[in-house]
Amino acid sequence: MAVQVLRSSCSFSRLLSKNVPSAGTVSRNAAWWSNVEMGPPDAILGVTEAYKRDPNPNKVNLGVGAYRDDNGKPYVLSCVLKAEQEIMASKLDKEYAGIAGIPEFTKAAAELAFGADSPVTTGGLNVTSQCISGTGSLRVGAAFFSKWYAKSKDFWVPTPTWGNHTPIFKHSGLEVKQYRYYDPKTCGFDFKGAMEDFSKIPAGSVVVLHACAHNPTGVDPKPEQWKEISQLFKKQGLYPFFDMAYQGFASGDIDRDAFAVRQFVKDGQQVVLAQSFAKNMGLYGERVGAFTVVCDSKEEADRVMSQIKILIRPMYSNPPIHGARIAARILTTPALRSEWLKEVKGMADRIISMRKQLREGLQKEGSTRNWQHITDQIGMFCFTGLNPTQVERLTKEFSVYLTKDGRISVAGLSSKNVGYLAKAMHEVTK
Ligand SMILES: Cc1ncc(COP(=O)(O)O)c(C=O)c1O
Repeated sequence: MAVQVLRSSCSFSRLLSKNVPSAGTVSRNAAWWSNVEMGPPDAILGVTEAYKRDPNPNKVNLGVGAYRDDNGKPYVLSCVLKAEQEIMASKLDKEYAGIAGIPEFTKAAAELAFGADSPVTTGGLNVTSQCISGTGSLRVGAAFFSKWYAKSKDFWVPTPTWGNHTPIFKHSGLEVKQYRYYDPKTCGFDFKGAMEDFSKIPAGSVVVLHACAHNPTGVDPKPEQWKEISQLFKKQGLYPFFDMAYQGFASGDIDRDAFAVRQFVKDGQQVVLAQSFAKNMGLYGERVGAFTVVCDSKEEADRVMSQIKILIRPMYSNPPIHGARIAARILTTPALRSEWLKEVKGMADRIISMRKQLREGLQKEGSTRNWQHITDQIGMFCFTGLNPTQVERLTKEFSVYLTKDGRISVAGLSSKNVGYLAKAMHEVTK
């Protein structure tokens, strides 16, 4: 009773620190977590927080990595809504999935990546487990390498790479090293630099490759360059670990976006793959993804799967079912699948058209800079080439929010704000 009165009239911490004697046990002053340092806010979520606080009606948020429609609103795919209705109507139970997830989903996910007629999928050489979206797939993959890969603990990532790669791999006890990838001079792919670095990486090392729509740069190797990279990996004995978070979302064509993965497989390489269905199906919060190890034989595949299950079990026991059911239904129902292919192309095309409009807008404003990279780059993100001072001016003077490295989410642009951004970018780059 007394406690209740005191709680309403003063803060709980004051009550604990002043009114309750420690009685010789644990004192609140000697708090158990006094050693915990305040961590920095997440770089991308911090951008969104600052955007929310800005009262400017023209403000634009280009930090967020999620698709928006032309009204700037989140978009739920109609094939997703239909699949969801069908699932509801069939009144499925809510029992646990197996440790490696829902078999219809893992089969469909692997076929989407490698192709339904690939010797990998037809021969049962893929060990595919449903994981918690792309991040969880990478994390399970990293744990598997950390525990079982005997040749090296080195994971090579491109410079720059998605901000979560390094923490994911380090968290699993792996050593993260970097190879050259982006050339700031051309705002394009540094093919020569990457090839030079690949040829020096010790045999057996794991090299992380963005399968398509490289994040954050939007810069991908061309098909001919992928072929050369694959040959070099073979020659050098490098282990390719593909991160494919944007299949279909980059070009609008699921097969075209899977080119690199399939080329490596065609060249006889046993790739590793992390997949996400966050972007291409708009299933962000449903956390749908898959981790695959391509094995040498069915017998090897069984051994690998047994150990992946042993790693997953104490982490989260088994993955969530709802989103994977949606993805599986879309991928395996012909009518839903063809609707999905149209919708994913629609999203990709809208982004491609925004790139075009931004470039044209800059030209219209009178900018004489070369903005070709805006349309050459692909996928959700564009590495504008703006320096930190220019980024700061964009935010302070125009309420345009983006990450400090000059990356914009093209998905955050619409026919309503692309002209405003072009004007603002021209002003800060004059
Ligand atoms: C390169 C890359 N990998 C993986 C992911 C994983 O995303 P999620 O965990 O939401 O599927 C992302 C998302 O932004 C990404 O850009």
